[in-house]
Amino acid sequence: MPWRNTTDPYAIWLSEVMLQQTQVSTVEPYYHRFLQRFPDIESLAAAPLEEVLKLWAGLGYYRRAKSLHRAAQFVASTYHHVFPCKYDDILQLPGIGPYTAGAIASIAFREIVPVLDGNVMRVLTRLLLIQDDIAKPQTRKLLWKIAGSLVPNQDPGDFNQAMMELGATVCTPINPRCESCPLETLCAARREHLQHQIPVKQIKAATPHIKLAAVIISSPQGHLLARRKPGGLWEHLWEFPAFELPRPTAASVSSRLLALTGMRIKLKRHDATITHQLTHRRMEYTLFMGQSMTKAAAQINMKIASYYDTIRWITDMKTVPKSRLTEKISALSR
Ligand code: ADE
Repeated sequence: MPWRNTTDPYAIWLSEVMLQQTQVSTVEPYYHRFLQRFPDIESLAAAPLEEVLKLWAGLGYYRRAKSLHRAAQFVASTYHHVFPCKYDDILQLPGIGPYTAGAIASIAFREIVPVLDGNVMRVLTRLLLIQDDIAKPQTRKLLWKIAGSLVPNQDPGDFNQAMMELGATVCTPINPRCESCPLETLCAARREHLQHQIPVKQIKAATPHIKLAAVIISSPQGHLLARRKPGGLWEHLWEFPAFELPRPTAASVSSRLLALTGMRIKLKRHDATITHQLTHRRMEYTLFMGQSMTKAAAQINMKIASYYDTIRWITDMKTVPKSRLTEKISALSR
């Protein structure tokens, strides 16, 4: 690996950024070309972004290139082109997280700080038979702590790179080569024959996609808003009445509104849809607009309303608490 022959923090930084989500063999030619065109921070900072992106073309994850460029300009202006040498300062640069900061600080400046990437996580969880879910932040925290406790005072950068390389070449996700692993006799997973079950990583379930219709009814008394019942999603917040419908049409929504409120209102579909991402579901709202000419009292059929406890004409929307989603719908309907 060509970046092993340098102590230039800029070159080490570049290699670590390129190696994120990308294989060594893919990175090598890009790394050389990039360094040839931009041999130092000064030249990178002075270049137009388009040129940087052109050299990155094909590597993917182009945000990395933009961050690199931005960070170079930051180093140029804040540190007079001299790369900061302390982990804490490196961590402040755009696009640099704990992994990259740890790699640069330990490899280029011999600071005794750990790195933790997917490879190191695999080595550590197998070595110490850690069966906690590595997708969880608290497990990551624990692994950072363990990695930090293992970094030696001598050559911390070599140690960190050895851990990464061990994970990449020997302690591989499938078919780990335990027979040729230098840590074989120390490895708890190997001893218990559990290396194939570790690390444990919860597979994220696909987030359900829910289709809904929201109705925006205006009248001389204001807009028709319903309040969410306590205990569920968006409790106590007011919103435009919404119905879960796989294929909402003006007619189907109108009949749901009739059932909920007793009001028979002709609806018109709005062109826009709004998607709202929650942690465990993705909601797609189709909007329907209607008008009520009468001064009807808003009434809610409690037998039908499973998630509303009241419905009312609201003259001034600003007076009631709403979710961000309702704000979005309100802005769109205006
Ligand atoms: N993967 C990413 N950076 C690495 C490095 N410096 N050594 C080994 N593997 C790596």
